[in-house]
Amino acid sequence: MLEGLLAIGAVGCATREAGTAATAATAAGRGPQPPVDEWQRIRSEFDLSPAWNHMSSFLLASHPRPVREAIEALRKQLDDNPPLALHTHEDSTPVREAAAAYMGARADEIALTDSTTMGLATLYLGLPLKAGDEVLTTTHDHYVTHESLRFAAERTGATVRRIALYEKSSAATAEGMTEAIAKALTPATRVVAITWVHSSSGVKTPVRAMAEVIARANQGRAPQDRIVFCVDGVHGFGVEDVTMADLGCDFFAAGCHKWIFGPRGTGVLWGKAELWPMLRPTIPHFGQEGHKAWIQGQPAPPTTASMMTPGGFHSFEHRWALPAAFAFHKSIGKAKVAARIHALNRQCKEGLRAMKHVTLHTPLEDAISAGIICFEVAGMTPEALMWKLIERKVIATTSPYATSYVRVAPSIINSEADVEAVLREVRALA
Ligand SMILES: Cc1ncc(COP(=O)(O)O)c(C=O)c1O
Repeated sequence: MLEGLLAIGAVGCATREAGTAATAATAAGRGPQPPVDEWQRIRSEFDLSPAWNHMSSFLLASHPRPVREAIEALRKQLDDNPPLALHTHEDSTPVREAAAAYMGARADEIALTDSTTMGLATLYLGLPLKAGDEVLTTTHDHYVTHESLRFAAERTGATVRRIALYEKSSAATAEGMTEAIAKALTPATRVVAITWVHSSSGVKTPVRAMAEVIARANQGRAPQDRIVFCVDGVHGFGVEDVTMADLGCDFFAAGCHKWIFGPRGTGVLWGKAELWPMLRPTIPHFGQEGHKAWIQGQPAPPTTASMMTPGGFHSFEHRWALPAAFAFHKSIGKAKVAARIHALNRQCKEGLRAMKHVTLHTPLEDAISAGIICFEVAGMTPEALMWKLIERKVIATTSPYATSYVRVAPSIINSEADVEAVLREVRALA
């Protein structure tokens, strides 16, 4: 699909209309909004081609100017003198501190990864599972959650059980999803593995309420029997205005190259401070703790978040530039980002829902949706619909699941006029 997108190239008419109109966001009255031209200024920080209506910027980030500049400066240092650049920047504390400040967490609770996939795989393969243990997950999670859990189960003898949180995504409710988890917990459940925002349907799960259910189930359990609550958070990270404490989960993995618009090939794995020692690293880290013990011929110390940062050399100019992405979000404000994305998504979903030839699969409510919208058009396969939209300069994607839908995802780089342009093109397909 991506090759196809590239092949089409940047020809054709401009979709971007000058001067965004009155804000639906303000009209919807959800949270403070910056002046309209503030969003145009934010859009101008990106080098995204103006020939396209970019409605899938969540897939893989385009770097905004401050991130591009930070990468370039670091790349120059690496090209000038790689060992000296390594020596200057190898302590990852500034990167972890920037992530921690954004997440409302502590730097020593964060491992750095290259992607959501890397975070989830190191987490699930690192959990102390054994035969007789059960991992509870859902039918809605991404391939990388299901596969990481399969790998973990095959190595440990634990079993994985998948449940549905809803039958019909557009009719999902927070209560129904929480109840589904509550009902499925058993004395053998050791891990609950879910996804914050389903890229299959756009449904946002009630992580906090689920965490409370799990905390109640953990009351009275011995430490080794307690349930660990793990979340693939990638499609809420950079969208919602919450901290890790607000979510209440135990571990949270996310790539920073989607909604955060961080350097491509960056990610974080966060976990509660007291839980890191239970994990078994898979890839040796390049920090002090493990290496010092190895040099001294000592047993490895208890696992820390730093020790769960996979070692080896990385595309360091990207990793070290990650603080620029968090600073970019901070300069806008987490609350404004969340309000903006929700307002544009609501505008889009309300428009789609009003069309008779469209089936909207994502709920309208802000509490159980975020930035991804899944829908179908009668008589068209998702693939055909995606290409039809691309022909009309709207960058849509299809969800990579057994049941696939077309997705659009209005984000901070989009305007109300962009959303209107999507609605116009979908309306024309009636
Ligand atoms: C829900 C979900 N989790 C994980 C991933 C993989 O993310 P990454 O590319 O950061 O590994 C995706 C991909 O878009 C996804 O939709």
